[in-house]
Amino acid sequence: MSAFVRIHEVGPRDGLQNESAVIPVADKVALIDLLSTSGLRDIEVGSFVSPKWVPQMADTDRVLAELTPVKNVRYGVLVPNMRGWEGFVAARVPDVTYEVAVFISASEGFSQSNLNCSIAESVARLTPVVQAAKDAGVGVRGYISCVTDCPFDGPVAPNAVARAAELLLAVAPMQLSLGDTIGKGTPETVGAMLKAVIDVAPAAQLAGHFHDTGGQALANIEVSLEMGLRAFDSAVGGLGGCPYAPGAPGNVATEAVLDLVHGLGFETGVDRDVIAKAAEMARGMR
Ligand code: HMG
Ligand code: MG
Repeated sequence: MSAFVRIHEVGPRDGLQNESAVIPVADKVALIDLLSTSGLRDIEVGSFVSPKWVPQMADTDRVLAELTPVKNVRYGVLVPNMRGWEGFVAARVPDVTYEVAVFISASEGFSQSNLNCSIAESVARLTPVVQAAKDAGVGVRGYISCVTDCPFDGPVAPNAVARAAELLLAVAPMQLSLGDTIGKGTPETVGAMLKAVIDVAPAAQLAGHFHDTGGQALANIEVSLEMGLRAFDSAVGGLGGCPYAPGAPGNVATEAVLDLVHGLGFETGVDRDVIAKAAEMARGMR
């Protein structure tokens, strides 16, 4: 099995989307630019979603315009529908590598809360986005939220997550990031969920996205590593949350994930010292 773990930094998006203060574009860009020098290959920098729903991400077009692109870094943005795709196309800068992330929920309650529609409808809305991205040569990843627990529907059955994975993979092959949106997962529930999902998608195609409410995120990463996953999302300084998931706290901190996986002998290519500086900067934004 690969000794390389790929870290997908989501702090500038998942972290900052949940801050009540308005973060100036210059501060977001300074954080992204610092992260870009750390050896990270994937940095999620914003969302093309409704500014009424998530005002903190309304300036993503300016973030894309003002950041200093670094070769070998892929800048990610969330895009739920064609309106978001059009926003991305208008904002993207030539010769920069981007990835669009589409997102669905494994539970109907969170789908309604986060996207104002059913799971099936959310897939119908993201399908043309995936097609447009493919036509434009832009990479796509897919998020599945509430992979163990939903703030509205309670515990989520592993089979529901496997079904959600099948729905996304029927649209196109893509990396699937499995979100413990409210950080209620445990090694037991995460392990059971992964067992079901690995039946429909190989571990190499999966990423773990753990929020840390219950303090179980690192233990959940360990069980995911044991099951073959080699990609994890994290937020520098433990920034994070989701405005439509009551109780969603920060994502697991990038520096904590680095300490864990480096300690277990994995390589990431990410410089811990640069991440420590970025974590300090991120904490100063709160
Ligand atoms: P809706 O109200 O059902 O949409 O929202 P609509 O199509 O009826 O449009 C309503 C208005 O929004 C219209 O404007 C549209 O133009 C506009 P109006 O005519 O009223 O002026 N609109 C848009 N504006 C900008 N960009 C767009 C867009 N789409 C419509 N893309 C919608 C549906 C999807 C827009 C809304 O529910 C939404 O924006 N939701 C986003 C929620 C979100 O970003 N949540 C956080 C990210 S997900 C997350 O954090 C979980 C994750 O981290 C994994 C995990 O932890 O589990 C990824
Ligand atoms: Mg999240």
